[in-house]
Amino acid sequence: MTNKLKYFIGNWKMFGNLGSLKIIYQIQRFCIRFKRRGKKNKIILCVPNTLISFFTNELKSKFISIGAQNCHYHENYGPFTGSVSASMLKNAGAKYIILGHSENRLEGETNKIINKKIESALNQKLNIIFCIGETFIEKKLGKTFLVIRKQIRDSIRKKYNLNKIIIAYEPIWSIGTGKIPKAKELKKIFKFIKDEVKKNYRTKSPPAVLYGGSVNGNNIRLFSPISEIDGFLIGGASQSSKKFIDIIKNYYK
Ligand code: PGA
Repeated sequence: MTNKLKYFIGNWKMFGNLGSLKIIYQIQRFCIRFKRRGKKNKIILCVPNTLISFFTNELKSKFISIGAQNCHYHENYGPFTGSVSASMLKNAGAKYIILGHSENRLEGETNKIINKKIESALNQKLNIIFCIGETFIEKKLGKTFLVIRKQIRDSIRKKYNLNKIIIAYEPIWSIGTGKIPKAKELKKIFKFIKDEVKKNYRTKSPPAVLYGGSVNGNNIRLFSPISEIDGFLIGGASQSSKKFIDIIKNYYK
């Protein structure tokens, strides 16, 4: 296995309270021990907005970065009850933000709205974890490539700084279901995404492309040999320090 930088990003979704700081401390302790093995990895935890400021103030860790999970497309303050903007998340201490997650697309978020969110997050110098992926029906109809190409093209403008964007391929049928794509399919899809970016965006350093969907400590070994995968976006299993740590440990086994 190469020693390329790998991302392990937790998406806590609607989970966690002030007491969850202990989960982060446990992950941090593991990172300190693991660091000695010389593996290059980046750990990011995307937590609910209610916890960003508390975690960033308490943690001050060079091993773990804290991120948000979504924002309103309007960049600063505005009459949007219940919403939070990229500038407010930045001010709370977030360094990263997940955008385009399928759970938000299901609530009506379109590629156009996601584009506006990406733009406002980039203006705020947040790093973006941009989610793409097809539904089960789209997969069955052979539309996977069409769907993800459109998601990329409609949301990422040519002028954007791709150094600030990480792409997470998350097939919707895999999220929270325990189902994962076959290695052969994944290789093809990752190659397609990377080629698509190379073809359409002039960039010296293409974005990292992650896999997300039912990743756990048992199936992670299946992903280790796929060198095209630059890391993982981990939902359910990131809500437990043990499960999250097992994923990292087993990946390198
Ligand atoms: P999961 O979620 O790991 O629970 O399938 C992944 C995600 O929604 O980002």
